[in-house]
Amino acid sequence: MRIVLLPGDGIGAEVCAAAARVLREVPLELDLEEHLFGGAAIRETGDPLPPETLAACRGADAVLLGAVGAAEFDRADVRPEHGLIRLRGELDVYANLRPARGDGVDLVVVRELVGGLYYGERGIRPDGTVFDTMEYRPEQVERIARRGFELARGRRGHVTSIDKANILATSRLWREVVEGIAADYPDVGLEHMLVDNCGMQLVQAPGRFDVLLTENTFGDILSDVAAGITGGLGVAGSASLGDGRPGIFEPVHGSAPDIAGKGIANPAAMLRSAALMLRHGLDKPDEAERLETAVDAALASAPTPDLGGGATTSELTDAVLSALRR
Ligand code: IPM
Ligand code: MG
Repeated sequence: MRIVLLPGDGIGAEVCAAAARVLREVPLELDLEEHLFGGAAIRETGDPLPPETLAACRGADAVLLGAVGAAEFDRADVRPEHGLIRLRGELDVYANLRPARGDGVDLVVVRELVGGLYYGERGIRPDGTVFDTMEYRPEQVERIARRGFELARGRRGHVTSIDKANILATSRLWREVVEGIAADYPDVGLEHMLVDNCGMQLVQAPGRFDVLLTENTFGDILSDVAAGITGGLGVAGSASLGDGRPGIFEPVHGSAPDIAGKGIANPAAMLRSAALMLRHGLDKPDEAERLETAVDAALASAPTPDLGGGATTSELTDAVLSALRR
């Protein structure tokens, strides 16, 4: 199986190196090949997603991605983040699963990933007004809703659909389509919740959620909140899936320029993303579970500074490897 590794920027390289070390120990034939992406690719080629990288991703069974973003591009026209948005669109990985588990909390954010505000028309009018637009077609909502209900079926059977239907037209479409799909899943419970209320409930009563079904921007924000109440961004992995291979597997955290290059980034989010890759991207649920168990054990025995411990990236990775060998 061909895995394309895209380290990207900042701590991306450090956590990707940790993932490569661990994946070499998984008893599967995995071919890892690294490609340029993000700011690193802009520096070399002027393009955050060079054609060679895109071609390699298209031919891969899975893409494992570190992080993109660097301060030097903050004001540039060509930005590392554009490469990520384009890659997700090109591979049409519309379903982004972001599990959050912790004390009494076991939820997964199902975020629509290739539509809405991040993909809409944007620009500047002659009078100086700047605009971004949010659009959704019914089919885009349908396919992500189906994913959410399917996933809920294998869990506690409850979907909370997030919108801002008291204001937004796209949210009214969202609500209507989700209700239509819900009819095919009579065994799954559905509630609608306004996004602002959801933000509060996530902080006050996160245990009440099972599957959180949401459009792109709301999901971007709520998934950071969900990560924040269950150990932080250092431990939050994600899977971005289309209808076939390859999926993209990436930590929820960004490039973390403040700690990049220090060797102290928590690789758990990346290793959990690698486990999600084994489970959802390569159909290897047993290997995925072994890796997840090893990461849990390592987080308990060798916590990194973000968790109040003193372990370095490589020490936590060592702990994962020794747990895997046990
Ligand atoms: C995420 C990130 C990205 C997003 C950025 C880097 C474009 O915040 O994966 O959540 O907004 O999707
Ligand atoms: Mg985000």
